[in-house]
Amino acid sequence: MTSRRQFLTAGVAASVLRASRARAATTRNSFPYPEFEARIARRDFRNITKDVLPTPCMVVDLDLFEKNVKHMAGHAKATGINVRPHVKIHKSVDVAKRQIAQGAIGLTCATIAEAELMSGAGIKHVLWTKQPASTNNITRAVALSKKDPTFMFVVDDPQVVDWVEEAAAASNTRLRIAVSVFAGMNRQGIANGQPALDLARKVAASKRMDFEGYMAYSGGAAHTKPWAARRKKSSDDLAGVRETVELTRKAGLPVNIVSGGSTGTYNIDKDNGLTELEAGSYVFMDTNYFAIGGKDDDAIYNDFQGALTILTTVDSKQHPNEVTIDYGNKALNRPTDKVKGMPWIQVFNQGAEYGGLKWTEAGRDLKLGERVEIYCTTLDMSTNAYDRYYVTRGDQIVDVWPIMGRGGAAQR
Ligand SMILES: Cc1ncc(COP(=O)(O)O)c(C=O)c1O
Repeated sequence: MTSRRQFLTAGVAASVLRASRARAATTRNSFPYPEFEARIARRDFRNITKDVLPTPCMVVDLDLFEKNVKHMAGHAKATGINVRPHVKIHKSVDVAKRQIAQGAIGLTCATIAEAELMSGAGIKHVLWTKQPASTNNITRAVALSKKDPTFMFVVDDPQVVDWVEEAAAASNTRLRIAVSVFAGMNRQGIANGQPALDLARKVAASKRMDFEGYMAYSGGAAHTKPWAARRKKSSDDLAGVRETVELTRKAGLPVNIVSGGSTGTYNIDKDNGLTELEAGSYVFMDTNYFAIGGKDDDAIYNDFQGALTILTTVDSKQHPNEVTIDYGNKALNRPTDKVKGMPWIQVFNQGAEYGGLKWTEAGRDLKLGERVEIYCTTLDMSTNAYDRYYVTRGDQIVDVWPIMGRGGAAQR
C-alpha cells in the first residue's frame, strides 16, 4: 500500500518531471539535431521550424513567393508579353518549375552550366544569353542543342557564327540562334542597324542555324529611379533595337522574338518593342530593387514582395545598441542589406563569419540567441553562397529546394 509520504513524493517527482519535459520542449536543443540532415533528405519536416535551422541560411516565404510569381504571370497575360524568367537570381530547378507552371514560356540563363541544368531537368525553351567563345562553351552549346532542340543561344559576332557553324557541322546539329544587339550596355551586343541585320542574315543563311530574333538587355534601365526616368531610359536604350527589328522585317527576315527587360521594367518594355521579358529578381526581391520606386510610388517598389531572407542568429551582445550575428563575408553580408520588420537597424560587417546589427533609437533591443531575418542586396551574388532554400509557411518548414546552379569550378 502506498503511504501518504510515498504518494506525495511520487506526486512531486511527477510534477518535476512534467515541468522538466515542458522545459525541454521549449529549450533550444529540444530538436533531435543528429537527425536533421536525414530528415531533410527524406522530406520529413515535422517540428522543423525556423528556430531549429542552422544559420545563416536562406528562407523563402512561400506565400509571398507564390504571390510574386502570380503577379508577373497575371501581368503577362493582361498585356500580351511573354515571360522567360532569368534563373541566375535563384539557380533552382524547383523555382523554375513553379515559374513554368504559371505560364513562363521557357527560361533565360547566364551560363551554359545553368542551361544544361535546367534543360536536363526537362524544362524546354531555355535561352542562354552569353555567346560561346571558348571551345568548351561552343562544344557544350552545340551538344545541348542536339540533345534539346528547343534550346537557343545568342551570338554577337560573325566570327562566333563561323566557329559555331563548324562545330554544328561536325555533329550534324541544328541550332536556334538569337542575335544579341546593343541595348545601352557595353558588355555585349552588336551595333544596331546594318551590322545587326548583316549578322542576322549570316545566321539565317547558314546551313545549320535558324535565326529566331534578337536579344537586347537594357540592364542600365533596370534600377533607374524613379519610374518615369526608368521608362525613358529603357525606351532610349531600346530605340536602336526597334529600328533593327523594323529593318530586319523589311529585309524579309521574320523576327520571332525580341527578348530583354528586367524586374524593374516589367511594366514598361511591352511598349518598347520587347516580345518577352527576361525578368528574374521579382520572385524573391532584394534591397537594390526595393529602392527603385514603382509606377505609383517613387519611394518604394512594392509590386513584388520580399520573399527571401537570410536567417541569422544573435551570437554575442556585449555593447550597447549593437549585437554580433553569424552573417559575415562568406554569407555575403552587405551594409546595404535590410533587417526584415526592423527598418531602424543597420547591418554591418565584422569579418568572414561575423556580422553586426546597430541601432541608435532608445528602447530598441535584440536578445542573445534571437533570430533576425535580413533581406540581401543582390540576389545573383547571395544565392551563389548558399546550397538550399528552406521553404516556409509561417514558421514551419514545408519544403527544401536545393540551389543547384551555383557557379563552381566544374560549372564554368
Ligand atoms: C541578360 C539578362 N536579362 C535580364 C536580367 C534581369 O534580371 P532582373 O529582373 O533580376 O533584374 C538580367 C539581370 O542581370 C540579365 O543579365
